[in-house]
Amino acid sequence: MHFDQNEAVYVRGLGIDDIAPVYHLGEELFTSDRYPYLYKIWGDWEVIGLYNADPDYCLVAEIDGKLAGFILGTIITKASWTYGYIRWLGVNPQFQRRRVADKLVDQLVSRMIEDGARFMLVDTDPNNTPAVKFFTRKGFGNLHQYVFLSMNLSKHEHYGRLIDYEH
Ligand SMILES: CC(C)(COP(=O)(O)OP(=O)(O)OC[C@H]1O[C@@H](n2cnc3c(N)ncnc32)[C@H](O)[C@@H]1OP(=O)(O)O)[C@@H](O)C(=O)NCCC(=O)NCCS
Repeated sequence: MHFDQNEAVYVRGLGIDDIAPVYHLGEELFTSDRYPYLYKIWGDWEVIGLYNADPDYCLVAEIDGKLAGFILGTIITKASWTYGYIRWLGVNPQFQRRRVADKLVDQLVSRMIEDGARFMLVDTDPNNTPAVKFFTRKGFGNLHQYVFLSMNLSKHEHYGRLIDYEH
């Protein structure tokens, strides 16, 4: 499908009617087969919860009236510091590489600055090259990798027996 590269990207606050389409777009983007050890789990509660907590930090982008992307964030205050945290950012594959994410982040950051944020935080899987490149280009740095461990309980000597017993 061809899209006019000049078609305007319109960013606005997320509304009640956007919750379901945003959730479904996230389902396409945050699949566990792409990043099997995904530590953050996408679900409808993520959209509803963040929207309830901080509607000002939930934005959608539209191109020609179609949902092009979304950003869901929150503000964290610790001691005297205020951090803006980007929890989820997603762009419809049809509209990627057209500065949709760029505009969503710019608008969210400017809202957060107004509310006192002086630092921004974001996290993603280290293998998520598009996201790592995107955020680096936006000026994020000071990358820390942390260890995420997992365990298949069924294959564990002790816990596996507990599971067998449950059955
Ligand atoms: C990461 C993501 C949000 C970027 O959205 P986007 O609207 O395509 O990004 P932009 O068009 O604003 O990109 C700006 C720059 O970011 C970098 N970038 C974006 N996508 C990239 C990719 N697939 N590969 C390499 N660099 C990429 C490039 O430097 C790009 O500039 P360029 O197009 O001039 O090369 C999008 O790929 C996405 O939704 N991914 C799946 C969900 C996800 O991983 N979200 C982030 C973690 S919550």
